[in-house]
Amino acid sequence: MPTLGVEFLGFKMKNPFILASAPPANTIEMIERAFEQGWGGAVTKTIPLEKVPVHDVSPRIHSIGFPGFEADARKVYAFGNIELVSQKHADYWMAGITQLRKNWPDRFVMASIMADGGAQGDWVELAQRSEQAGALAVELNFSCPHGGMPPHAVGAAIGQDPVIAARIVRWVREAVKIPVLVKLTAAVSDLRQLGRVLIDAGADGFCTINSFPVLLGVDLQTHSPMPSVHGKGNLGGYTGRALKPIALRATSEIAPLGKPVSGCGGLTTWEDAAEFVLLGATSLQVCSAVMLEGYGIITDLCDGLMGYLEEQGADSLADLRGKALANIVPHARLEYERRMVSTIDLATCTRCGKCAISCRDAGYQAINEAADRTPAVDPRKCDGCGLCTQVCPVWDCMKLEPATATT
Ligand SMILES: Cc1cc2nc3c(=O)[nH]c(=O)nc-3n(C[C@H](O)[C@H](O)[C@H](O)COP(=O)(O)O)c2cc1C
Repeated sequence: MPTLGVEFLGFKMKNPFILASAPPANTIEMIERAFEQGWGGAVTKTIPLEKVPVHDVSPRIHSIGFPGFEADARKVYAFGNIELVSQKHADYWMAGITQLRKNWPDRFVMASIMADGGAQGDWVELAQRSEQAGALAVELNFSCPHGGMPPHAVGAAIGQDPVIAARIVRWVREAVKIPVLVKLTAAVSDLRQLGRVLIDAGADGFCTINSFPVLLGVDLQTHSPMPSVHGKGNLGGYTGRALKPIALRATSEIAPLGKPVSGCGGLTTWEDAAEFVLLGATSLQVCSAVMLEGYGIITDLCDGLMGYLEEQGADSLADLRGKALANIVPHARLEYERRMVSTIDLATCTRCGKCAISCRDAGYQAINEAADRTPAVDPRKCDGCGLCTQVCPVWDCMKLEPATATT
């Protein structure tokens, strides 16, 4: 029987799934309820010092639906939020961390902390108090897009400045013995370079990634950005399914640096989890999927991932970790010679015409329609770009097949 157990930053976790520092980890009571349902760990909502006032606006969460379901909250494709760090301060969290460690010694508990970029004493105090409280690691929040505690320039403003970020890592690394993890923003030009700088400064691992800075939308009647706070708005943090490709890219860039990585961003299903592992993640953090479906998703995440291990003949996630990395190669090393052409399964084709329209106006004019709209691919014209297979609404109706000698 394979195991979902992983060793992360020296701690043996029963499964890799951790509540991200976010609304699902807003209080100790909530984290304990998640642990009861089987979550392997939690990162506290980012902890501010007592002296820092946290004034959240209302509303602060908005969403984008799947196309065609824009107004349907159950079909959320992405959230955009302008929420700040925890409204509860260090005193609450430190007592809570101690309680969590006592009641749940087999769960990974990490303190997410944030202070002003220049405030060495505040970073050191937060890290040392977290360590004394029993936190197994600290996660430095260098990545909230809207600044975690206005009017300070914090969050992503730190993660986008290697000099400031490295200086803070050094302060914290020297102040505590527990591992120091850096939660990154993908809104930087070169994550690999930043990662190397932070490793040199003493970072023990990374979380890839926090939410991505976006402007979620504009209300056409009021001209207000969304979420609209009485007519005004601010850049928000993009999360949920839409974030996954950005998070996978970040994970694939940071994992080869050799430090443990906690994959985060858009993880919704066990398949997503497996993708992060194949790109080198050891633990996995989740926020938006819990915001949508609740803590109970942990059962499907674990069952699905276990089934995948069995199917792959793997004993543990360590057997699969990073397996996809070697397949990410420079474009110049991709295979240019083997040509593919589109094929259509006329038995399942609905004659909707989508493939022909896309090929005509954005492809190679290789799909002709008969009078009854039955499509046919001209293999000599088809360039194998794959567009038609992606716009076809019928699963597996259109496929790319190797071109034959006659095509
Ligand atoms: C409403 C909201 C508040 C968040 N607050 C924090 C926070 O306080 N600290 C932090 O590091 N990340 C925060 N995050 C980011 C999440 O921890 C996570 O990195 C991000 O949502 C991507 O994961 P997901 O796609 O699973 O949601 C927040 C996310 C949301 C949606």
